[in-house]
Amino acid sequence: MIVPPSSALCLSVLFLLAVSCSADDVDFIYQGFQHANLTLDGSASVLHGGALQLTNDSNRLVGHAFHGSPVRFLEVGGGGRPPSSFSTAFVLDIVTVGSGGGHGLAFVVAPSTVLPGASPEVYLGVLGPTTNGNPANHVLAVEFDTVLDLELNDTNGNHVGVDVNSLVSNVSEPVAYYAGGNAKVPVMLESAQPIQAWIDYDGDSGVLNVTVAPVYVADRPLRPLISTKLDLRPILREEMYVGFSSATGKLASSHYILAWSFRTNGLARSINLRRLPKVPKPRAALSKLVIIKLAAVACAGTLTLIAAAMAILFWLRKRAKLADTLEDWELKHPHRFAYKDLYKATKGFKASELLGAGGFGQVYKGVLRPRCGRDEVAIKRMSAGTTQGMKEFVAEIASLGRMRHRNLVELRGWCKHGQDLFLVYEFMPNGSVDAHLFGTDRRAPLLTWAQRFAVLGGVARGLLYLHEEWEHVVVHRDVKANNVLLGADMGARLGDFGLARLYEHGANHATTRVAGTLGYMAPELTVTSRATTATDVFSFGALLLEVACGRRPVVPPSEATDDSDVILVRWVRACGVDGDLLRAVDPRLEGCYDEGEAKLVLWLGLMCSQARPEARPSMRQVCRYLSGEEALREDAALVFSGADSVEFIGSSLSIAWSSGGTMSAGSVNGGR
Ligand SMILES: *[C@@H]1O[C@H](CO)[C@@H](O)[C@H](O)[C@H]1NC(C)=O
Ligand SMILES: *[C@@H]1O[C@H](CO)[C@@H](O)[C@H](O)[C@H]1NC(C)=O
Ligand SMILES: *[C@@H]1O[C@H](CO)[C@@H](O)[C@H](O)[C@H]1NC(C)=O
Ligand SMILES: *[C@@H]1O[C@H](CO)[C@@H](O)[C@H](O)[C@H]1NC(C)=O
Ligand SMILES: *[C@@H]1O[C@H](CO)[C@@H](O)[C@H](O)[C@H]1NC(C)=O
Repeated sequence: MIVPPSSALCLSVLFLLAVSCSADDVDFIYQGFQHANLTLDGSASVLHGGALQLTNDSNRLVGHAFHGSPVRFLEVGGGGRPPSSFSTAFVLDIVTVGSGGGHGLAFVVAPSTVLPGASPEVYLGVLGPTTNGNPANHVLAVEFDTVLDLELNDTNGNHVGVDVNSLVSNVSEPVAYYAGGNAKVPVMLESAQPIQAWIDYDGDSGVLNVTVAPVYVADRPLRPLISTKLDLRPILREEMYVGFSSATGKLASSHYILAWSFRTNGLARSINLRRLPKVPKPRAALSKLVIIKLAAVACAGTLTLIAAAMAILFWLRKRAKLADTLEDWELKHPHRFAYKDLYKATKGFKASELLGAGGFGQVYKGVLRPRCGRDEVAIKRMSAGTTQGMKEFVAEIASLGRMRHRNLVELRGWCKHGQDLFLVYEFMPNGSVDAHLFGTDRRAPLLTWAQRFAVLGGVARGLLYLHEEWEHVVVHRDVKANNVLLGADMGARLGDFGLARLYEHGANHATTRVAGTLGYMAPELTVTSRATTATDVFSFGALLLEVACGRRPVVPPSEATDDSDVILVRWVRACGVDGDLLRAVDPRLEGCYDEGEAKLVLWLGLMCSQARPEARPSMRQVCRYLSGEEALREDAALVFSGADSVEFIGSSLSIAWSSGGTMSAGSVNGGR
């Protein structure tokens, strides 16, 4: 309908007259409540910043705040005249600490600033169990409820409701706003964000509209959330108080009103949203945060302490583990190493430091005092099992520690730790002769004849030193290619001297163990169990043949060729008998060898391999032959190398082959 300009002017004049004429009309706006004319009771107070606090977050509080002077809603004696229209806008802020608070707040129109029977919790401080639903209440409330109370037929825990004389709402809606058209956007009352609410009542049509929107929504939503027809005539009295009520229960929130505008018979003035008072930061939240932080710090502290304590315990245990428990006799012997140092040198006997493992234990590479240059050593770790005989053995080892010979691996010292015995040797960078003869490692290339001959001479001199030149006779007991090591100059050093003795002293005295390596063991050892210099010579004989022929003293039958024999010495002897001794020389040398030296080595090997110990030469004689000081009579050697020794080795082999390889012959009973 198009209104003619004249009638529009007329209407506005009339309206102006009506507004100006009604002296009872109320129009106020509070941007903050410092100077507001309010009647407060209960927990309500105006904070320094200007916010009206209805409740803090203590339990079971009720707070009321009413405009100081009443508002006229009905004409005096107005009879059937419709009540005044009114319009109000306010900004509420509900701050909850923790998961859920309560119970909400309400805009209230009531006959008095004192609400009889008002009670906290579900009644929001508006009514109470005794007054709820009583028509004599004359109370209109628009509730902003944050708790779902089934007793009051609430629909959810975040709703707006229109209440008449009862907290059971006439109409209620989950809190939301319409953002253009019908798009409904939910709003959380407890979001701790300022939310604006508008309540408009048209007295003539009896329509009550309720609209909410977070303050960050720029414009007031056009469509109200609730629009309900409500005849307020039975409820309203001539003069009523308008204000707010809030309550907490077992659940609690801080309820604030930040600004309020109210007007009868006209639209409430807009609130300046940029001038809203601030609400205090939630105190409890802060302290809870502090508590959480303190707890975290305490936890971290405790954990650190526990970790530190565990680290100390671990360190102590490790120290205890690394510490040596010394027996008196151990202190008497020099060259003793501390276990701790050996442990450090080998990085805790790490597998990566392992150089090799064999019959007597594992050998680790170690670096002593890593910070002061590279002092490399080889550390042999033997599980001595029992300490029976250990004392004697250590005594001997300790004395061997004083031994210095250019063809003996230097024994630097020893260490006993629990059941383990450690021997510390100088490190041999070029490995063993065994590796250079049979190894697949490219770092250990095949030895030339000159190298082989030099090695054999060196080993002979080393053995001679042990047998005749040291303070007392030392029997090596385990001469073999594996125990001949090569120094940086490729010079031969005999290692592991005297070690086998430890095993011969073994735990069980009833059976005497014979240590040695099959093929290197003199036949009389299996009978007498007594290692002598002659048994060493027998072993050296096997070594001579092995180095010259490039074949192990005993070859597994599967590896033997037609032209050979499982037993090296028998084959070499056969070659000699055929008058073709040099056929036995290592074919891998491809003929590059000194024939005289080769013959010497082979004959000498046969001579040393004789069955009767007294028939074998001494190491001094061996050295003389090898150095050329004495000439060897070939036929004599052949005569001496009787078949008996060879047969003897052959028969003992059949027993041992089941264990395979050239490993230790193990325990051989000394009895007949
Ligand atoms: C909360 O308000 C009540 C009532 O005004 C008061 O007694 C109480 O001390 C307040 N609590 C806190 C933590 O401020
Ligand atoms: C507050 O309202 C009361 C009651 O109408 C009135 O007596 C008083 O003067 C008002 N105070 C202020 C500061 O407006
Ligand atoms: C809640 O609603 C049901 C049905 O909708 C009604 O029977 C009941 O009386 C209501 N409760 C209250 C407290 O009004
Ligand atoms: C709404 O309030 C009026 C006035 O008290 C009451 O008579 C009516 O029954 C209520 N309606 C509903 C749906 O609760
Ligand atoms: C209430 O809302 C309806 C629908 O949007 C509107 O037509 C009416 O004018 C509104 N009444 C008041 C008093 O705001």
